[in-house]
Amino acid sequence: MSAKSFVVVTGGAGFIGSHTVDRLLERGCNVAVLDNFSTGKRENLAQWAESDSLEVVAADISDGIFAALADLEERWGKVERIVHLAAQTSVVHSIENPLNDVRNNYTGTVQVLEYARRKGVRKVVFASSAAVYGDVSTLPVREDAPCNPLSPYGIDKLGSEYWLRYQSSIFGMDSQPLRFFNVYGPRQDPRSPYSGVISIFSDRASAGKELRIFGDGAQTRDFVYVGDVSRAILLALFAEGGTGEAANIGTGNETSVNELAALINEFCGGRSTISHAAARDGEILRSVADVNRARELFSFDAKIVLRDGLKTTVASLQG
Ligand code: NAD
Ligand code: UD1
Repeated sequence: MSAKSFVVVTGGAGFIGSHTVDRLLERGCNVAVLDNFSTGKRENLAQWAESDSLEVVAADISDGIFAALADLEERWGKVERIVHLAAQTSVVHSIENPLNDVRNNYTGTVQVLEYARRKGVRKVVFASSAAVYGDVSTLPVREDAPCNPLSPYGIDKLGSEYWLRYQSSIFGMDSQPLRFFNVYGPRQDPRSPYSGVISIFSDRASAGKELRIFGDGAQTRDFVYVGDVSRAILLALFAEGGTGEAANIGTGNETSVNELAALINEFCGGRSTISHAAARDGEILRSVADVNRARELFSFDAKIVLRDGLKTTVASLQG
């Protein structure tokens, strides 16, 4: 039986998940990825094809994860920690298909936590979202602000956070929900209509195609680079304790969609025209993180500024 930490990453073949797996393997962990490949891709993990420390298991978390991990428990022993990232990630899709969101994002979380409880997993880190807040009156938004989610996605993330807190207080399991703001960087798939705005704009601007802004473009987001986010996940995962109190993961900087479009267009040679379409339903108008709690709890500060992160992202799409 291996003495290395055995870490499960749900959604590990996805965008944030694959960067997290890179860091865990570099740290010397045994890593099991559970993924249904709805948006994730095996090629995101192809760099580890020869590694004995990574196993990728095709599994849908909403059906439960006991069977998917049984063989690996015999090989690597008890699961020590879980990074739970598997989810459908689109706010728009959750409004159109709420039951699908409940199945993947709420039932899926409870299934993962039920495994953690029954198996005595030491710590669970969960990908929550800034979408739990809805529109807030005071910015930057602190974790103790009232939560009024504007979408099924935000509701299911908030409900999941309560499950982590419940399991920590009743069963003593350490847990850490992380409220990611808008994550961007290499490996974010640009080709789905539900992709993150930076991957869509970078892909289109690289080809000189029109950039379409929903609404007047004055809405703001806190864009945080995936390398910072994966670093935050590991800091939280290996920090002592964790009561289930959420922590924001952002930069503390606010950028409007108009500014973003102009910046990406500039990096790509300025060939795209910019148009406006109707605003999205469930759209949050302003979003920016207060970043103090993550600093206090597990010494995390984002390091990559938007201009640098955008350059790397655009280069990865062009390369
Ligand atoms: P992603 O779509 O690349 O990753 C999600 C992964 O989960 C994919 O590999 C997908 O195949 C897998 N998956 C989905 N449903 C599953 C299921 N039922 N069973 C097993 N696997 C399943 O998206 P991402 O941006 O890497 O998101 C990772 C997590 O971070 C998600 O929980 C998302 O809600 C959260 N998050 C992302 C952002 C962002 O800006 N990207 C912001 C806030 C929160
Ligand atoms: C994103 C994440 C969500 C996460 C949330 C946290 C994705 C797909 N969604 O949601 O998982 O929980 O951040 O804050 O990564 N826009 C355009 N034109 C486009 C695409 C988008 O103008 O072609 C605008 C949107 O209207 C929105 C902004 O860009 O105002 C960001 O949109 P998007 O990247 O889809 O992210 P969120 O909805 O904020």
